Amino acid sequence: MTATATRAPVITTTPGATLPRLLADGPDLRAHVARHGPLPPTSSGLLMSLEQAGLKGRGGAAFCTARKVTSVATAGGETVVVANGSEGEPLSAKDKVLLTKAPHLVLDGLALAADLVGADRRILCIERGNPVVEGAVRRALSERGESGAELFTTPRRYLSGQENALVDLINGGRGKPALDRPFVRGVDGRPTLVDNVETLAHLALIARYGPRWYREVGTAEDPGTTLVTVAGSVSRPGVFEVAHGWHLEELLAHAGSCKPRAVLLGGYYGRWAGAGKLSELRLDSASLRREGLSLGCGVIAVLDDATCAVAEMARVATWFAANSAGQCGACTWGLRDLAHTTSALGADGPDSQSPGRLMRWANMIDGRGACRLPDGAVAFLRTALEVFADEVQEHLEGGCSRARRHLLPTPAPEPWV
Ligand SMILES: Cc1cc2nc3c(=O)[nH]c(=O)nc-3n(C[C@H](O)[C@H](O)[C@H](O)COP(=O)(O)O)c2cc1C
Ligand code: SF4
Repeated sequence: MTATATRAPVITTTPGATLPRLLADGPDLRAHVARHGPLPPTSSGLLMSLEQAGLKGRGGAAFCTARKVTSVATAGGETVVVANGSEGEPLSAKDKVLLTKAPHLVLDGLALAADLVGADRRILCIERGNPVVEGAVRRALSERGESGAELFTTPRRYLSGQENALVDLINGGRGKPALDRPFVRGVDGRPTLVDNVETLAHLALIARYGPRWYREVGTAEDPGTTLVTVAGSVSRPGVFEVAHGWHLEELLAHAGSCKPRAVLLGGYYGRWAGAGKLSELRLDSASLRREGLSLGCGVIAVLDDATCAVAEMARVATWFAANSAGQCGACTWGLRDLAHTTSALGADGPDSQSPGRLMRWANMIDGRGACRLPDGAVAFLRTALEVFADEVQEHLEGGCSRARRHLLPTPAPEPWV
Protein backbone atom coordinates (compact mmCIF):
# COMPACT_ATOMS: atom_id res chain seq x y z
CA MET A 1 0.00 0.00 0.00
CA THR A 2 1.20 3.49 -0.64
CA ALA A 3 0.13 6.96 0.30
CA THR A 4 1.32 8.90 -2.68
CA ALA A 5 -0.83 10.21 -5.49
CA THR A 6 1.97 11.26 -7.78
CA ARG A 7 2.82 7.96 -9.51
CA ALA A 8 2.39 7.47 -13.24
CA PRO A 9 -1.24 7.82 -14.21
CA VAL A 10 -3.42 4.80 -14.58
CA ILE A 11 -5.77 5.44 -17.47
CA THR A 12 -8.87 3.40 -17.68
CA THR A 13 -12.00 3.03 -19.77
CA THR A 14 -15.59 2.90 -18.67
CA PRO A 15 -18.17 0.48 -20.00
CA GLY A 16 -20.07 1.76 -23.01
CA ALA A 17 -17.81 4.73 -23.62
CA THR A 18 -14.66 5.30 -25.61
CA LEU A 19 -12.29 6.80 -23.12
CA PRO A 20 -10.02 8.45 -22.31
CA ARG A 21 -10.76 11.79 -23.90
CA LEU A 22 -8.37 14.16 -22.15
CA LEU A 23 -5.51 11.86 -21.26
CA ALA A 24 -5.15 10.21 -24.67
CA ASP A 25 -3.61 13.30 -26.19
CA GLY A 26 0.17 13.02 -25.84
CA PRO A 27 2.41 15.96 -25.11
CA ASP A 28 3.68 16.99 -28.55
CA LEU A 29 1.96 19.37 -30.93
CA ARG A 30 2.16 17.17 -34.02
CA ALA A 31 0.37 14.27 -32.30
CA HIS A 32 -2.16 16.68 -30.79
CA VAL A 33 -3.02 18.19 -34.19
CA ALA A 34 -3.05 14.76 -35.87
CA ARG A 35 -5.58 13.61 -33.30
CA HIS A 36 -7.82 16.66 -33.05
CA GLY A 37 -7.05 18.84 -36.06
CA PRO A 38 -5.93 22.47 -35.73
CA LEU A 39 -7.41 24.81 -33.16
CA PRO A 40 -10.81 25.86 -34.53
CA PRO A 41 -11.53 29.59 -34.76
CA THR A 42 -13.74 30.80 -31.91
CA SER A 43 -17.23 30.84 -33.36
CA SER A 44 -20.09 32.95 -32.13
CA GLY A 45 -21.80 29.66 -31.21
CA LEU A 46 -19.10 28.49 -28.79
CA LEU A 47 -20.67 30.07 -25.72
CA MET A 48 -23.99 28.40 -26.58
CA SER A 49 -22.14 25.09 -27.06
CA LEU A 50 -20.61 25.39 -23.58
CA GLU A 51 -24.05 26.02 -22.16
CA GLN A 52 -25.58 23.08 -24.05
CA ALA A 53 -22.69 20.84 -23.04
CA GLY A 54 -23.33 21.81 -19.41
CA LEU A 55 -19.61 22.28 -18.70
CA LYS A 56 -18.87 22.89 -15.02
CA GLY A 57 -15.58 23.93 -13.45
CA ARG A 58 -13.20 21.20 -12.30
CA GLY A 59 -11.34 23.35 -9.75
CA GLY A 60 -13.64 22.31 -6.90
CA ALA A 61 -16.82 24.38 -6.87
CA ALA A 62 -18.34 22.98 -10.11
CA PHE A 63 -19.62 26.39 -11.18
CA CYS A 64 -21.20 26.73 -14.65
CA THR A 65 -18.39 27.74 -17.05
CA ALA A 66 -20.67 29.51 -19.57
CA ARG A 67 -22.01 31.76 -16.79
CA LYS A 68 -18.51 32.69 -15.64
CA VAL A 69 -17.46 33.46 -19.20
CA THR A 70 -20.53 35.66 -19.67
CA SER A 71 -19.85 37.59 -16.44
CA VAL A 72 -16.34 38.47 -17.55
CA ALA A 73 -17.25 39.12 -21.19
CA THR A 74 -19.95 41.58 -20.18
CA ALA A 75 -18.03 43.25 -17.35
CA GLY A 76 -16.68 45.91 -19.72
CA GLY A 77 -13.13 47.03 -20.46
CA GLU A 78 -10.05 44.94 -21.09
CA THR A 79 -10.09 41.44 -19.66
CA VAL A 80 -7.63 38.69 -18.67
CA VAL A 81 -7.85 34.87 -18.59
CA VAL A 82 -5.96 32.76 -16.06
CA ALA A 83 -5.58 28.99 -16.43
CA ASN A 84 -5.32 27.68 -12.89
CA GLY A 85 -2.91 24.72 -12.76
CA SER A 86 -1.49 25.47 -9.30
CA GLU A 87 -3.05 22.36 -7.74
CA GLY A 88 -2.08 23.04 -4.14
CA GLU A 89 -4.25 20.21 -2.76
CA PRO A 90 -1.63 17.69 -1.57
CA LEU A 91 -3.63 14.60 -2.59
CA SER A 92 -4.41 15.82 -6.10
CA ALA A 93 -2.29 15.02 -9.15
CA LYS A 94 -4.83 15.35 -11.97
CA ASP A 95 -3.81 18.83 -13.17
CA LYS A 96 -0.12 17.94 -13.13
CA VAL A 97 -0.83 14.77 -15.11
CA LEU A 98 -3.04 16.66 -17.57
CA LEU A 99 -0.45 19.40 -18.10
CA THR A 100 2.25 16.79 -18.63
CA LYS A 101 0.27 14.53 -20.95
CA ALA A 102 -1.92 17.01 -22.83
CA PRO A 103 -0.60 20.57 -22.46
CA HIS A 104 -1.89 21.54 -25.91
CA LEU A 105 -5.49 20.82 -25.00
CA VAL A 106 -5.13 23.20 -22.03
CA LEU A 107 -3.45 25.87 -24.18
CA ASP A 108 -6.18 25.50 -26.83
CA GLY A 109 -8.80 26.00 -24.12
CA LEU A 110 -6.95 29.04 -22.79
CA ALA A 111 -6.82 30.62 -26.28
CA LEU A 112 -10.52 29.92 -26.91
CA ALA A 113 -11.55 31.29 -23.50
CA ALA A 114 -9.48 34.42 -24.16
CA ASP A 115 -11.34 34.92 -27.45
CA LEU A 116 -14.69 34.41 -25.72
CA VAL A 117 -14.08 37.16 -23.17
CA GLY A 118 -11.99 39.37 -25.49
CA ALA A 119 -8.89 39.04 -23.28
CA ASP A 120 -5.57 40.43 -24.41
CA ARG A 121 -3.66 38.69 -21.58
CA ARG A 122 -3.55 34.90 -21.12
CA ILE A 123 -1.71 33.45 -18.15
CA LEU A 124 -1.05 29.79 -17.38
CA CYS A 125 -0.22 29.19 -13.70
CA ILE A 126 1.59 26.13 -12.36
CA GLU A 127 3.17 25.40 -9.00
CA ARG A 128 6.89 26.02 -8.97
CA GLY A 129 9.42 23.29 -8.25
CA ASN A 130 8.00 20.58 -10.51
CA PRO A 131 10.44 20.21 -13.43
CA VAL A 132 8.34 17.57 -15.22
CA VAL A 133 5.23 19.75 -15.42
CA GLU A 134 7.17 22.93 -16.12
CA GLY A 135 9.24 21.19 -18.81
CA ALA A 136 6.12 19.87 -20.60
CA VAL A 137 4.43 23.27 -20.50
CA ARG A 138 7.48 25.20 -21.67
CA ARG A 139 8.00 22.73 -24.54
CA ALA A 140 4.36 23.06 -25.56
CA LEU A 141 4.55 26.86 -25.49
CA SER A 142 7.68 26.90 -27.63
CA GLU A 143 6.24 24.34 -30.10
CA ARG A 144 3.31 26.68 -30.67
CA GLY A 145 5.59 29.70 -30.97
CA GLU A 146 3.22 31.20 -28.40
CA SER A 147 3.98 34.77 -27.61
CA GLY A 148 0.43 35.20 -26.34
CA ALA A 149 0.37 32.93 -23.28
CA GLU A 150 2.51 33.79 -20.26
CA LEU A 151 3.73 31.14 -17.84
CA PHE A 152 3.48 32.10 -14.16
CA THR A 153 4.81 29.87 -11.37
CA THR A 154 3.25 29.98 -7.90
CA PRO A 155 4.66 29.25 -4.41
CA ARG A 156 4.08 25.72 -3.08
CA ARG A 157 1.14 26.51 -0.86
CA TYR A 158 -2.44 25.29 -0.74
CA LEU A 159 -3.77 28.83 -1.00
CA SER A 160 -1.87 29.63 -4.21
CA GLY A 161 -4.67 27.96 -6.21
CA GLN A 162 -7.47 29.91 -4.53
CA GLU A 163 -8.49 32.40 -7.21
CA ASN A 164 -8.22 35.61 -5.16
CA ALA A 165 -4.80 34.54 -3.84
CA LEU A 166 -3.68 33.61 -7.34
CA VAL A 167 -4.69 36.99 -8.72
CA ASP A 168 -2.84 38.67 -5.83
CA LEU A 169 0.33 36.69 -6.72
CA ILE A 170 0.09 37.64 -10.39
CA ASN A 171 -0.38 41.28 -9.35
CA GLY A 172 2.90 41.09 -7.45
CA GLY A 173 1.45 40.42 -3.98
CA ARG A 174 2.36 37.70 -1.49
CA GLY A 175 -0.57 35.48 -2.39
CA LYS A 176 -2.88 36.46 0.43
CA PRO A 177 -6.47 36.37 -0.82
CA ALA A 178 -7.81 39.82 -1.71
CA LEU A 179 -11.48 40.48 -1.10
CA ASP A 180 -12.38 41.55 -4.66
CA ARG A 181 -13.90 38.90 -6.90
CA PRO A 182 -11.58 38.34 -9.88
CA PHE A 183 -14.37 38.58 -12.45
CA VAL A 184 -14.97 42.16 -11.28
CA ARG A 185 -11.45 43.29 -10.35
CA GLY A 186 -8.67 40.80 -11.00
CA VAL A 187 -5.30 40.88 -12.74
CA ASP A 188 -4.17 44.51 -13.26
CA GLY A 189 -7.54 45.50 -11.76
CA ARG A 190 -9.29 44.13 -14.86
CA PRO A 191 -12.18 41.63 -15.05
CA THR A 192 -10.46 38.23 -14.99
CA LEU A 193 -11.70 34.76 -15.86
CA VAL A 194 -9.98 32.15 -13.67
CA ASP A 195 -10.59 28.62 -14.89
CA ASN A 196 -9.07 25.35 -13.79
CA VAL A 197 -6.80 23.77 -16.45
CA GLU A 198 -9.01 20.68 -16.74
CA THR A 199 -12.05 22.89 -17.37
CA LEU A 200 -10.17 24.57 -20.23
CA ALA A 201 -9.18 21.21 -21.73
CA HIS A 202 -12.85 20.16 -21.78
CA LEU A 203 -13.69 23.52 -23.37
CA ALA A 204 -11.18 22.79 -26.17
CA LEU A 205 -12.84 19.41 -26.84
CA ILE A 206 -16.35 20.91 -26.85
CA ALA A 207 -15.20 23.57 -29.37
CA ARG A 208 -14.07 20.78 -31.72
CA TYR A 209 -16.65 18.05 -31.23
CA GLY A 210 -19.70 19.88 -29.96
CA PRO A 211 -22.09 19.50 -27.03
CA ARG A 212 -23.86 16.42 -28.35
CA TRP A 213 -20.57 14.48 -28.48
CA TYR A 214 -19.68 15.79 -25.02
CA ARG A 215 -22.93 14.44 -23.60
CA GLU A 216 -22.46 10.96 -25.07
CA VAL A 217 -21.02 9.96 -21.71
CA GLY A 218 -21.81 11.11 -18.20
CA THR A 219 -25.19 12.03 -16.70
CA ALA A 220 -27.73 14.70 -17.61
CA GLU A 221 -26.60 16.92 -14.71
CA ASP A 222 -22.91 16.09 -15.05
CA PRO A 223 -22.10 15.40 -18.69
CA GLY A 224 -18.74 14.19 -19.96
CA THR A 225 -15.73 12.72 -18.27
CA THR A 226 -13.76 13.91 -15.29
CA LEU A 227 -10.27 13.37 -13.96
CA VAL A 228 -9.97 11.86 -10.51
CA THR A 229 -6.93 11.17 -8.37
CA VAL A 230 -7.20 8.01 -6.30
CA ALA A 231 -4.84 7.91 -3.32
CA GLY A 232 -4.34 6.45 0.14
CA SER A 233 -4.65 2.72 0.88
CA VAL A 234 -4.67 1.51 -2.71
CA SER A 235 -2.07 -0.55 -4.55
CA ARG A 236 -2.48 1.33 -7.87
CA PRO A 237 -2.87 5.02 -7.00
CA GLY A 238 -3.06 7.43 -9.89
CA VAL A 239 -5.12 9.69 -12.08
CA PHE A 240 -8.10 8.13 -13.83
CA GLU A 241 -10.40 9.59 -16.43
CA VAL A 242 -13.93 8.36 -15.81
CA ALA A 243 -17.38 9.18 -17.12
CA HIS A 244 -19.54 10.93 -14.54
CA GLY A 245 -21.98 8.48 -13.03
CA TRP A 246 -19.50 5.64 -12.73
CA HIS A 247 -19.72 3.50 -9.59
CA LEU A 248 -17.24 4.55 -6.94
CA GLU A 249 -16.59 0.95 -5.93
CA GLU A 250 -15.71 -0.01 -9.50
CA LEU A 251 -13.14 2.77 -9.64
CA LEU A 252 -11.72 1.73 -6.28
CA ALA A 253 -11.35 -1.83 -7.58
CA HIS A 254 -9.35 -0.50 -10.57
CA ALA A 255 -7.11 1.38 -8.18
CA GLY A 256 -6.47 -1.77 -6.15
CA SER A 257 -8.28 -0.64 -3.05
CA CYS A 258 -8.21 -2.65 0.13
CA LYS A 259 -11.52 -3.11 1.92
CA PRO A 260 -11.93 0.57 2.81
CA ARG A 261 -12.96 1.74 6.25
CA ALA A 262 -13.78 5.16 4.84
CA VAL A 263 -13.16 7.33 1.81
CA LEU A 264 -12.34 11.05 1.66
CA LEU A 265 -14.08 12.66 -1.33
CA GLY A 266 -12.86 16.03 -2.64
CA GLY A 267 -9.48 16.09 -0.88
CA TYR A 268 -8.79 18.03 2.31
CA TYR A 269 -11.50 20.49 1.32
CA GLY A 270 -13.89 17.53 1.07
CA ARG A 271 -15.77 15.16 3.34
CA TRP A 272 -15.43 11.63 4.67
CA ALA A 273 -17.87 8.84 3.80
CA GLY A 274 -17.98 5.65 5.84
CA ALA A 275 -17.70 2.17 4.25
CA GLY A 276 -21.45 1.55 4.71
CA LYS A 277 -22.27 4.25 2.16
CA LEU A 278 -19.80 3.37 -0.55
CA SER A 279 -21.78 0.75 -2.49
CA GLU A 280 -24.49 3.35 -3.16
CA LEU A 281 -22.21 6.05 -4.47
CA ARG A 282 -21.71 7.03 -8.06
CA LEU A 283 -19.38 9.75 -9.29
CA ASP A 284 -21.93 12.43 -10.08
CA SER A 285 -23.41 15.35 -8.17
CA ALA A 286 -26.89 13.91 -7.69
CA SER A 287 -25.68 10.65 -6.17
CA LEU A 288 -23.09 12.33 -3.96
CA ARG A 289 -25.37 15.20 -2.91
CA ARG A 290 -27.85 12.72 -1.42
CA GLU A 291 -25.14 11.81 1.09
CA GLY A 292 -23.96 15.38 1.65
CA LEU A 293 -20.86 14.78 -0.48
CA SER A 294 -19.31 16.17 -3.66
CA LEU A 295 -16.42 15.27 -5.92
CA GLY A 296 -14.79 18.69 -5.38
CA CYS A 297 -11.41 18.73 -7.11
CA GLY A 298 -11.71 15.01 -7.91
CA VAL A 299 -9.67 13.47 -5.09
CA ILE A 300 -10.71 10.12 -3.66
CA ALA A 301 -8.54 8.94 -0.76
CA VAL A 302 -9.04 5.53 0.85
CA LEU A 303 -8.41 4.84 4.52
CA ASP A 304 -7.99 1.22 5.62
CA ASP A 305 -8.83 -0.36 8.94
CA ALA A 306 -5.25 -0.67 10.17
CA THR A 307 -4.47 3.06 10.03
CA CYS A 308 -5.15 5.39 12.96
CA ALA A 309 -7.69 7.90 11.61
CA VAL A 310 -7.33 10.29 14.56
CA ALA A 311 -3.58 10.65 13.90
CA GLU A 312 -4.39 11.43 10.24
CA MET A 313 -7.04 13.98 11.33
CA ALA A 314 -4.55 15.65 13.66
CA ARG A 315 -1.89 16.04 10.97
CA VAL A 316 -4.36 17.43 8.43
CA ALA A 317 -5.81 19.86 11.01
CA THR A 318 -2.25 21.05 11.74
CA TRP A 319 -1.63 21.39 8.00
CA PHE A 320 -4.76 23.57 7.63
CA ALA A 321 -3.53 25.85 10.43
CA ALA A 322 -0.10 26.13 8.77
CA ASN A 323 -1.78 27.14 5.50
CA SER A 324 -3.77 30.04 6.91
CA ALA A 325 -2.76 33.37 5.43
CA GLY A 326 -3.24 34.89 8.88
CA GLN A 327 -5.60 37.65 7.79
CA CYS A 328 -8.93 36.71 9.38
CA GLY A 329 -9.22 36.08 13.13
CA ALA A 330 -11.51 33.05 12.76
CA CYS A 331 -9.01 31.43 10.43
CA THR A 332 -5.78 32.40 12.24
CA TRP A 333 -6.90 31.49 15.78
CA GLY A 334 -9.71 29.08 14.96
CA LEU A 335 -7.63 26.75 12.80
CA ARG A 336 -4.83 26.82 15.40
CA ASP A 337 -7.26 25.79 18.14
CA LEU A 338 -8.78 23.05 15.98
CA ALA A 339 -5.27 21.72 15.29
CA HIS A 340 -4.30 21.72 19.00
CA THR A 341 -7.49 20.00 20.10
CA THR A 342 -7.36 17.36 17.35
CA SER A 343 -3.69 16.67 18.17
CA ALA A 344 -4.59 16.34 21.86
CA LEU A 345 -7.23 13.78 20.91
CA GLY A 346 -4.56 11.68 19.21
CA ALA A 347 -2.14 11.98 22.14
CA ASP A 348 -1.92 9.66 25.13
CA GLY A 349 -4.56 10.39 27.76
CA PRO A 350 -6.78 12.80 25.79
CA ASP A 351 -9.33 15.04 27.46
CA SER A 352 -12.87 13.61 27.20
CA GLN A 353 -14.15 17.13 26.41
CA SER A 354 -12.08 17.33 23.19
CA PRO A 355 -14.70 16.08 20.67
CA GLY A 356 -17.36 18.47 22.03
CA ARG A 357 -14.88 21.34 22.05
CA LEU A 358 -13.87 20.56 18.46
CA MET A 359 -17.48 20.68 17.31
CA ARG A 360 -18.09 23.99 19.12
CA TRP A 361 -15.03 25.65 17.55
CA ALA A 362 -15.88 24.21 14.16
CA ASN A 363 -19.34 25.79 14.39
CA MET A 364 -17.79 29.11 15.41
CA ILE A 365 -15.41 29.42 12.46
CA ASP A 366 -17.56 27.84 9.74
CA GLY A 367 -18.20 30.38 6.96
CA ARG A 368 -16.14 33.09 8.69
CA GLY A 369 -12.92 33.26 6.61
CA ALA A 370 -12.72 35.64 3.65
CA CYS A 371 -11.46 32.93 1.29
CA ARG A 372 -13.37 30.00 2.82
CA LEU A 373 -10.21 28.12 3.86
CA PRO A 374 -11.63 27.39 7.34
CA ASP A 375 -14.78 25.85 5.80
CA GLY A 376 -12.60 23.10 4.35
CA ALA A 377 -11.07 22.27 7.74
CA VAL A 378 -14.49 22.31 9.37
CA ALA A 379 -16.07 19.92 6.84
CA PHE A 380 -13.07 17.60 7.02
CA LEU A 381 -13.11 17.42 10.84
CA ARG A 382 -16.89 17.30 11.33
CA THR A 383 -17.30 14.36 8.96
CA ALA A 384 -14.21 12.64 10.38
CA LEU A 385 -15.61 12.87 13.92
CA GLU A 386 -18.83 11.29 12.66
CA VAL A 387 -17.32 8.55 10.50
CA PHE A 388 -14.58 7.63 12.99
CA ALA A 389 -16.73 8.05 16.13
CA ASP A 390 -15.85 4.52 17.35
CA GLU A 391 -12.13 5.17 17.02
CA VAL A 392 -12.44 8.55 18.74
CA GLN A 393 -14.10 6.74 21.65
CA GLU A 394 -11.24 4.20 21.69
CA HIS A 395 -8.76 7.09 21.95
CA LEU A 396 -10.69 8.63 24.83
CA GLU A 397 -10.52 5.27 26.58
CA GLY A 398 -6.80 4.97 25.77
CA GLY A 399 -7.23 1.88 23.57
CA CYS A 400 -6.53 2.62 19.89
CA SER A 401 -3.93 0.16 18.63
CA ARG A 402 -3.99 1.14 14.96
CA ALA A 403 -0.77 2.15 13.20
CA ARG A 404 0.18 5.82 12.90
CA ARG A 405 1.14 5.74 9.26
CA HIS A 406 1.25 9.23 7.71
CA LEU A 407 -1.06 8.02 4.97
CA LEU A 408 -2.26 11.52 4.06
CA PRO A 409 0.53 13.85 2.87
CA THR A 410 0.87 17.19 4.66
CA PRO A 411 3.65 19.17 2.95
CA ALA A 412 4.86 22.32 4.69
CA PRO A 413 3.75 25.44 2.81
CA GLU A 414 6.39 27.81 1.46
CA PRO A 415 6.81 30.64 3.97
CA TRP A 416 5.06 33.96 3.28
CA VAL A 417 7.87 36.31 2.31
C1 LIG B 1 -8.54 27.08 -0.37
C2 LIG B 1 -8.82 26.91 -1.83
C3 LIG B 1 -7.85 26.38 -2.67
C4 LIG B 1 -8.10 26.23 -4.05
N1 LIG B 1 -7.14 25.67 -4.85
C5 LIG B 1 -7.39 25.51 -6.18
C6 LIG B 1 -6.40 24.93 -7.04
O1 LIG B 1 -5.31 24.55 -6.60
N2 LIG B 1 -6.69 24.82 -8.36
C7 LIG B 1 -7.91 25.24 -8.89
O2 LIG B 1 -8.13 25.14 -10.10
N3 LIG B 1 -8.85 25.80 -8.09
C8 LIG B 1 -8.62 25.93 -6.76
N4 LIG B 1 -9.57 26.52 -5.96
C9 LIG B 1 -10.80 27.03 -6.62
C10 LIG B 1 -10.50 28.39 -7.27
O3 LIG B 1 -10.65 29.41 -6.28
C11 LIG B 1 -11.43 28.69 -8.45
O4 LIG B 1 -12.76 28.54 -8.01
C12 LIG B 1 -11.20 27.78 -9.67
O5 LIG B 1 -9.86 27.86 -10.11
C13 LIG B 1 -12.13 28.19 -10.77
O6 LIG B 1 -12.01 27.34 -11.87
P1 LIG B 1 -13.19 26.42 -12.40
O7 LIG B 1 -14.43 27.26 -12.51
O8 LIG B 1 -12.69 25.94 -13.71
O9 LIG B 1 -13.37 25.32 -11.40
C14 LIG B 1 -9.35 26.65 -4.59
C15 LIG B 1 -10.33 27.19 -3.73
C16 LIG B 1 -10.07 27.30 -2.37
C17 LIG B 1 -11.16 27.86 -1.49
S1 SF4 C 1 -9.78 32.70 5.62
FE1 SF4 C 1 -7.67 32.34 6.28
S2 SF4 C 1 -6.54 31.96 4.44
FE2 SF4 C 1 -8.50 32.89 3.84
S3 SF4 C 1 -8.13 35.11 3.70
FE3 SF4 C 1 -8.79 34.71 5.80
S4 SF4 C 1 -6.90 34.32 6.97
FE4 SF4 C 1 -6.40 34.16 4.80
